[in-house]
Amino acid sequence: MNTQQRRAQHINAILPPAQGWQNDASAFAPSNIALCKYWGKRDALLNLPLNASLSISLGDLGTHTQLTAAAADSVSLNGQQLGSDSRFYQKVFDFIDYFRRDLPVKIAVATTNTIPTAAGLASSASGFAALVLACNDFFDLNLDHATLSALARFGSGSAARSLAHGFVQWDIGTRADGWDSFAHVLPIRWEALHIGIVAIDSHRKKINSTEGMTRTLATSTLFQKWQQVAAADLKRIRQAIEAQDLTALGTAAEHNAMTMHATMLSAWPPLCYWQPTTLLAMQQVWQLREAGVAVYFTIDAGANLKLLFEPAARDAIVSTFPQIQIITPFNREPNHARY
Ligand code: PMV
Repeated sequence: MNTQQRRAQHINAILPPAQGWQNDASAFAPSNIALCKYWGKRDALLNLPLNASLSISLGDLGTHTQLTAAAADSVSLNGQQLGSDSRFYQKVFDFIDYFRRDLPVKIAVATTNTIPTAAGLASSASGFAALVLACNDFFDLNLDHATLSALARFGSGSAARSLAHGFVQWDIGTRADGWDSFAHVLPIRWEALHIGIVAIDSHRKKINSTEGMTRTLATSTLFQKWQQVAAADLKRIRQAIEAQDLTALGTAAEHNAMTMHATMLSAWPPLCYWQPTTLLAMQQVWQLREAGVAVYFTIDAGANLKLLFEPAARDAIVSTFPQIQIITPFNREPNHARY
């Protein structure tokens, strides 16, 4: 049995078969940025994390997905039809087939990202979150949030955190079958919190996160320590969010990102997702801080920086990073996502 078949078997064991389908269904899910990172799997087949993570969703930046009953299966991405041999097409239908199983329906999938490609943000989290929400409606499944989050995880780990707006925490869970590893929203709004995206490189990363995690876990002597650090950072981040304390949040989030990257740098062969300009941007952030501007960064398995700040720092940040894209996750119209 291949991975897809083993995952399908695992999902079939708890998910009752769909009884029918709608003509169409659509959903939106926001992209998210981890403040406490998920890095390392305790189970690669089930995509279960070794550490809990916490993210902030990016409001209107995310993925819209529409499923329509059709004469044949098809996938369009940002308005372009994809060949059935493309990796994206296959991943989408592998996922849909967890729900469709033997039902005699063909589906046209239309998916559009509102994340500008140049921002270099991963769209897999919002993509699989929007897909699981659309499948839930299309196949009339009425699944609860926890189950939807646990299912999104099979597309991409961080997708488990993309079903909701605001701060979202994904717990490790204790069950071997992983059905208690899902994300929940923290009932906290932080209106003044700003996220700035400093785009450095929009190219697809050469080593994807799964491969990066596997290599780090197998070869980095810092990996064990990372797990302890992540647990401590999560606590600090939770407290900082509750207190709406930017210094505490920024310090813990930047520390968390740098510690994750330290495990990557100490892997063999070394994993470095940074470009020379990434380091330059980090130094600019540190210089701003030395000059009294409250700004912190986080960085995922890529070259782009995401800044955390409040309105008082905005002008100084925009003049240092004129190309920055600013998002105010809590200061927006009521959202499209339902959870
Ligand atoms: O969801 P994945 O498998 O692409 O992994 C995400 C890994 C990081 O973005 C580096 C961290 C995170 O928690 O999002």
